[in-house]
Amino acid sequence: MHNFVFHNPTKILFGRDTVNAIGSETRAWGRRALLVYGQTSLKRSGLHARIVNSLREAGLELIEFGGTCSNPLLSHVREGIALAKTHGSEVIVAAGGGSVIDTAKAIGAGAVVEHDVWKFFTGKRSIKATLPVTTVLTLAASGSEMNAGMVLTNDATREKFGFGHRLLFPKTSILDPETTFTVPVDYTVYGAVDAISHVLEFYLTASDPDSPVQDRLMEGLIDNAMTACLRCMDDPCDYNGRANLMWTATLALNGLTAAGLGRVGFPMHLIEHSLSALYNVPHGAGLAVVMLGWLRAHHDLYARRIAELGRRLFRLPDGEQAASIAAQTSLCLQEWLHRVRAPTTLADLGIPARDIPRIADNTRGLARIWRLRDYPPERVAAILHLCR
Ligand code: NZQ
Ligand code: ZN
Repeated sequence: MHNFVFHNPTKILFGRDTVNAIGSETRAWGRRALLVYGQTSLKRSGLHARIVNSLREAGLELIEFGGTCSNPLLSHVREGIALAKTHGSEVIVAAGGGSVIDTAKAIGAGAVVEHDVWKFFTGKRSIKATLPVTTVLTLAASGSEMNAGMVLTNDATREKFGFGHRLLFPKTSILDPETTFTVPVDYTVYGAVDAISHVLEFYLTASDPDSPVQDRLMEGLIDNAMTACLRCMDDPCDYNGRANLMWTATLALNGLTAAGLGRVGFPMHLIEHSLSALYNVPHGAGLAVVMLGWLRAHHDLYARRIAELGRRLFRLPDGEQAASIAAQTSLCLQEWLHRVRAPTTLADLGIPARDIPRIADNTRGLARIWRLRDYPPERVAAILHLCR
């Protein structure tokens, strides 16, 4: 195992009725709060009223900033930063999924500087301070509720960049599984796929595979994401199904899985971000397609790791060539994706194969920032041709 530092400062309140604590948890960080949320689901579910009441009862002076869209936009974040500066916001509350939480993190970082917030994403500026962020998670997927990452799309350049800094960890995140009862089937599946990909990419690209503690942890998270997803599809109000999926998605990208693995890559995410930036594809839907293309392209190069996963997860028999077990592993994953009715081709996403060069070219910027030099556009194009 490689040396590592694991420091995750986010306080998690998990379980039934924890939503009511958002007021006191936020008041601890300031009196003037900006509440960030999405389009319609928060009000439709009645959660908006509960959160506003809790914040007001805790003595917070509140302004609201709704309207965050999925695959959140830089232009919307800039509006939120202007509002936070005008209002003198001291703390940002995010109530929603990863798009809302990332928007809140970006507002918190942009509200304390004079330069444009996009400079953080292009590496031109580093973060020195942020406004504190608290969250109420309403969709199990991104892991943003307990990590130091944020992802934004620059509307003008159609670049979707991810950026991480230790000051971006939320102070407190409320994970009440009941808030996800209203998540529709498709986004339940996309969230499970996102969590699986967060683990799978680290598992496969780990530079020091002699970390059985990490491997068993990651295999367990992938297995649970698949099982819990099926449970929630059977019964959207299955509390323990939702609770297991929620906690799995949070653990999938809060730093724990990467401990000791050395340098890991995010190649599937590199490619998927371009699908979301160019076609506004839901993040998990894009990953379901890209994951299959990447696996097919790497049955040989990553045979040992993919075959290990197949043996552990799908009980594939030992003895055969690793590359052949790797191919069977891809098929098992593809079977599960079909079972949960996830898209598995670019065509399923409505993206024509003739666009592959444009998509591949769009990955250049993020590949540079994420230092994924071994993913030039031609390699990306080859992977996309295997899932067209
Ligand atoms: O906008 P509303 O009406 O709220 O509807 C949302 C949205 O349409 C809906 N939704 C959320 N909670 C719901 C609900 N519908 C019913 N009931 C509820 N309880 O779900 C839709 C998708 O929401 P969104 O926040 O976009 O989904 P997700 O949580 O998957 O977040 C996706 C974003 O996270 C980023 C992605 O790039 C994407 O922009 N990621 C962030 C990461 C991070 N910060 O670490 C890592 C991830 O890899 C990912 O890249
Ligand atoms: Zn993701």
